[in-house]
Amino acid sequence: MIPLKPMREDALAAAAGVDPERLWHRLAEMAKIGAIPGNGVNRPALSPGDIEARALLLSWAHARGYMVSVDGIGNLFLRRAGSDPNAAPVMTGSHMDTQPKGGRFDGIYGVLAGLEALEAMDAAGVRTRRPVDVVAWTNEEGGRFPPCTMGSMVFSGARPVEAFLEVRDNEGIRLGDALKQTLAATPEAAVHAFATPVAAYIEAHIEQGPLLEANALTIGAVTGIQGMRWFNVEVSGDSAHAGTAPVSLRRDALRAAVAMIAALRALTADPTDITRFTVGRMLVTPNSPNTVPSHVLFSVDVRHPDPATIRRLGETVEPLCRQHAGPCSVVVTPTLHDDPATFDPGVIDLIETAAGCLRLPATRLPSGASHDAMYLSRVCPTGMIFVPCERGVSHNEAENATPGDLAAGARVLAAALVELANR
Ligand code: GLV
Ligand code: MN
Ligand code: MN
Repeated sequence: MIPLKPMREDALAAAAGVDPERLWHRLAEMAKIGAIPGNGVNRPALSPGDIEARALLLSWAHARGYMVSVDGIGNLFLRRAGSDPNAAPVMTGSHMDTQPKGGRFDGIYGVLAGLEALEAMDAAGVRTRRPVDVVAWTNEEGGRFPPCTMGSMVFSGARPVEAFLEVRDNEGIRLGDALKQTLAATPEAAVHAFATPVAAYIEAHIEQGPLLEANALTIGAVTGIQGMRWFNVEVSGDSAHAGTAPVSLRRDALRAAVAMIAALRALTADPTDITRFTVGRMLVTPNSPNTVPSHVLFSVDVRHPDPATIRRLGETVEPLCRQHAGPCSVVVTPTLHDDPATFDPGVIDLIETAAGCLRLPATRLPSGASHDAMYLSRVCPTGMIFVPCERGVSHNEAENATPGDLAAGARVLAAALVELANR
């Protein structure tokens, strides 16, 4: 393979400084925090497991002398200083929270690949003009406290932190209270402001799809992220006795919710299989076999890469739910509105160039999953590096990736960060 363009020597030296065993060992150490049967991880945002993962990450950062700071939504920043104290940093990172039945790589890989890149720069004696920051974004998954990508959304200025303090998890715990406990657990971290300038952002992540593996490719230079809308749909009726209340007189919230979901499925039916529609969360009250449900809350997640299509689908959710509410009432609340993101051509090109220089087979591809890079792309030149994920399985305990591919992604990341941090 012929490299597209040459790279700085110190960028390639940093890539060579990546230690595959150290990265793999750290992924294994992190996977112990919140470990669940089947090799999975359950580490919800702002939970005791999240706090423990933060402490472990900080212990590795302190051992290297990196500066540590935290902002008001709990995003954790580790800084390797540059030679110009006034230069905006180049950032990398991802998230440490997981899905309830999550795997060992989604998110945490991007954080630890970032840390590995910093240590690889140390090992190679590389100095950069700009600082390089590794960020662990808070609550990327949104599995406990919807919506997802909350930390990067707040950091980038898209929403204020106050917009999320009253969000409650399935046990009724307020996000504001869980956040306070999480922040109290890292008192040594300096305070980081929101919306500080960022020179560029690159996030490393497992692909979560089958393309790279199926084509025997090691690196994906990600071109962008498809659009996405999230809603909470709250249906209200009346509880009643399952044996005595005539069906014709019931205000059955679950029956109405099922009708709404069927209509939404029909709306999003797509013979090309590009549209993604998911109802992944449902809370039924009082959740008893012999009581007609009085309340149902369900989530809607709809995604599409085309801006006009995702807009049309998003605008149809509320009217369609109203139309199928029957005798019940319904409140539809939008919780996330992400238009498709297009990454920076220069950053995409740089990732491809780094892969080429490192003799790693690569391709360009879009991301079906959302990432914190979605929000960073609104404030700075942004790109992502994907590495293969076994059978494309993700948000599943069986999620898997090879040590060699994970190290390759960290090498590309280290090289690209050194390039960007000297511009
Ligand atoms: C992030 O995990 C997403 O839902 O795409
Ligand atoms: Mn992720
Ligand atoms: Mn995820």
